[in-house]
Amino acid sequence: MSLPTTEPTTGLPASDFVVFGGTGDLALRKLLPALYHREREHQLPEGTRIIGGSRSELDDHGYRLVVREALQTHVAPGDLEAEAVGRLLDRIHHLTLDAETPDDWHLLHGLLKERPDPERVRVFYLAVSPALFGPICERLEQVGVVEPSSRVVMEKPIGTDLDSARRVNDAVGRVFDEAQIFRIDHYLGKESVQNLLVTRFANTFLEPLWSSHWVDHVQITVAETLGVGERGGYYDHAGALRDMVQNHLLQLLCLVAMEPPTYVGRETVRDEKLKVLQALKPMTAEDVDRDTVRGAYGQGVVDGAVVPSYAEDLGHAGSSTETFVALKAEVQNWRWAGVPFYLRTGKRMDRRVSEIVVVFKEPPHAMFPHASGPTTANRLHIQVQPEEGMRLHMTAKEPGPGGIRLRPVSLDLSYATAFSERSPDAYERLIMDTIRGNPTLFMRRDEVEAAWTWVEPILQRWAETPDRRPKTYPAGTSGPTAAAMLLERDGRTWQEHA
Ligand code: BG6
Repeated sequence: MSLPTTEPTTGLPASDFVVFGGTGDLALRKLLPALYHREREHQLPEGTRIIGGSRSELDDHGYRLVVREALQTHVAPGDLEAEAVGRLLDRIHHLTLDAETPDDWHLLHGLLKERPDPERVRVFYLAVSPALFGPICERLEQVGVVEPSSRVVMEKPIGTDLDSARRVNDAVGRVFDEAQIFRIDHYLGKESVQNLLVTRFANTFLEPLWSSHWVDHVQITVAETLGVGERGGYYDHAGALRDMVQNHLLQLLCLVAMEPPTYVGRETVRDEKLKVLQALKPMTAEDVDRDTVRGAYGQGVVDGAVVPSYAEDLGHAGSSTETFVALKAEVQNWRWAGVPFYLRTGKRMDRRVSEIVVVFKEPPHAMFPHASGPTTANRLHIQVQPEEGMRLHMTAKEPGPGGIRLRPVSLDLSYATAFSERSPDAYERLIMDTIRGNPTLFMRRDEVEAAWTWVEPILQRWAETPDRRPKTYPAGTSGPTAAAMLLERDGRTWQEHA
């Protein structure tokens, strides 16, 4: 099996890469730096244009200055090469567009029709508020720029619940076929997340152990030290469950739990992930009360600095939005029945880390009854970020005479040490895949809707029980104590700094 990482970047047709929201945070912080890195590697097809669309009154020259500044801010100084920056800027154009003003859109039509070659791929990247996804697609259709080879790329959030997700998908689906729609979950573009598939399926030793026979439980943590910052307006309507669990954490769970596809193809991986989402045990109201924990950060100390509470970040009290969630899920299928998957994510936690810990069962028989020292269950610790790596925790005999003393040891694989290559940002891979037309690492409509289907009873129950507000946890900690209890109740503990 091979991941499509080595897909050709030469021989691709020239593209018009149109970014709606071209002066927004996502475009300037992530998309344009990612395009720059691909430009530097000479991977952007010859003749490719990058067209920023925004409401700003900018001409091409003005937008190029904005892009240049963004690159200076968001690309590591050692990676900035004047020649590559110049090549990228030569490709850049800007159009002043307002989704509400139909007249503007003829400018886009004019610019795209300047290059009428039928091979040319048009990528429409919607780096804008989801409320504009439908209206922008409609405008694109009205001005006649959507062709069979065109693609549309959507950022999350896709809806705020199942119904609204369906409405967004319907609106976009009226203009683009499902095969033309690329829904980004940037976690799928992370190197270490793709490596999870390789670790599982390009090696043989794990697969026989990867089931309820040998796995006691799985923990998935995505912890951030940042607060909501300037994004309070969006975040307060979303919360950690919608912002992180419905997409990133469930996608990680899928990659851990899925069956091996026969090969890595456009639909096969997504088919297997969908089966996992569909096998998640639906939560009843009692399950939600028992198996979910909500928190919101209070004041505290992060990285040595005193930081404000969530309410202070928002500028008002009274919000019942969670900035932390921990929950226990179960995948009801032959492989995983009875194995808890504990998920947690939060802002303003004690460290930034995304990791998966697979905790194996204790040995079935105590062979060393007179040994001293701890016996601990084997754990495979897969660190997604910040440092990518993998650690297998084992028990070894402490060297020396006079009986057997056991000591925990670990086999460590650090990617930074093992590989000298620069690890590209998730968006570099994903952007190139939109140009290539490879949807493997994008979320299909049925996946998004299956994830909402599972999350929705939790949202509903939380809405019905407003008296159970999120518990405050001090910023700079590992979340509310109730999150620790969630595992302690089952005789387990979170693997901190595993
Ligand atoms: C985004 C969320 O999808 O992911 C943010 O909206 C979050 O709230 C971010 O901060 C985390 O991404 P990463 O790549 O920094 O782990």
